[in-house]
Amino acid sequence: LTTTAIALGLAVTASAAFASCEDGETVIKFSHVTNTDKHPKGIAASLLEQRVNDEMDGVACMEVFPNSTLYDDDKLLEAMLQGDVQLGAPSLSKFETFTKVFRIFDLPFMFKNMEAVDAFQSSDAGQDMMGSMEKRGLAGLAFWHNGLKQFSANTPLMVPTDAEGLKFRVQPSDVLVAQMEAIGASPQKMAFSEVYGALQQGVVDGQENTWSNVLGQKYYEVQDGITETNHGVLDYMVVASVDWLDSLEPATRDQFLTILDEVTTERNAAIAEVDAEARQGVLDAGGEIRELSPEQREEWVVAMKPVWEQFTDDVGQENIDAAQAINM
Ligand code: LMR
Repeated sequence: LTTTAIALGLAVTASAAFASCEDGETVIKFSHVTNTDKHPKGIAASLLEQRVNDEMDGVACMEVFPNSTLYDDDKLLEAMLQGDVQLGAPSLSKFETFTKVFRIFDLPFMFKNMEAVDAFQSSDAGQDMMGSMEKRGLAGLAFWHNGLKQFSANTPLMVPTDAEGLKFRVQPSDVLVAQMEAIGASPQKMAFSEVYGALQQGVVDGQENTWSNVLGQKYYEVQDGITETNHGVLDYMVVASVDWLDSLEPATRDQFLTILDEVTTERNAAIAEVDAEARQGVLDAGGEIRELSPEQREEWVVAMKPVWEQFTDDVGQENIDAAQAINM
């Protein structure tokens, strides 16, 4: 009886979630891990959902599952290849098992600001990267921006030696592991949904993330302060499986990709505003933001930039050169 009740409960939940889908519509489940409000990915995903449901009514139906309610990022890509979910937008640090080309985005101090990131992603080098996982069954559809990362810990971080011996949560990227080791810290790969609890319980001492994630996950509640290092990039790749894309009617696929393209352009253009609002949101919520003097920031650069050498073969010297030329 219990099993039946649970099964029925699940069935009700599933159909309720898709109440807006009509028979015959292509169902597009979009799973992601962040919050929806004041968050670049959350806002973009909601806009995409609204436009698909308005403009493709009768043809396609999208449902967004935010906040890791459907999958953590470490399960998402396999689930996509199985056909259990159609769309996702994991950060570029989450594709390690599919491609190493995105490692360039994790290298500390590679891009001086988000305009440089945008220009690099729009260049031939960046656009070629979108196809880097096709052999593995994943189609890169668009880069979505989040922003530059900041450090935080349960103790003030002003210079790199302040991080020595501390445990930091990192995304599952070997570049980020090397970056933390370069400053004598101890990196721990961990799912996004577990970070707040791990900081609160002292499983890790610190973390790195963007203003919108610091705000959305309330890290300021369980950290001493957020140090404005702007030391790295956190951006996303919107992905679908090649098989699923191929299964769509050409007209459906074209319409969907056109909407995605327009949403991408619109929301990427608004990134500075969303990022600034999130930073302000951290202050308004009582978070402490520590700014660095140019000399202090230079110490972080000197300590972390040497990790580039370890990953040049993965990302290609020509890509590093292209990114640096854009920074000029
Ligand atoms: C993280 O795991 O810290 C981020 O990738 C979360 C996100 O999607 O912004």
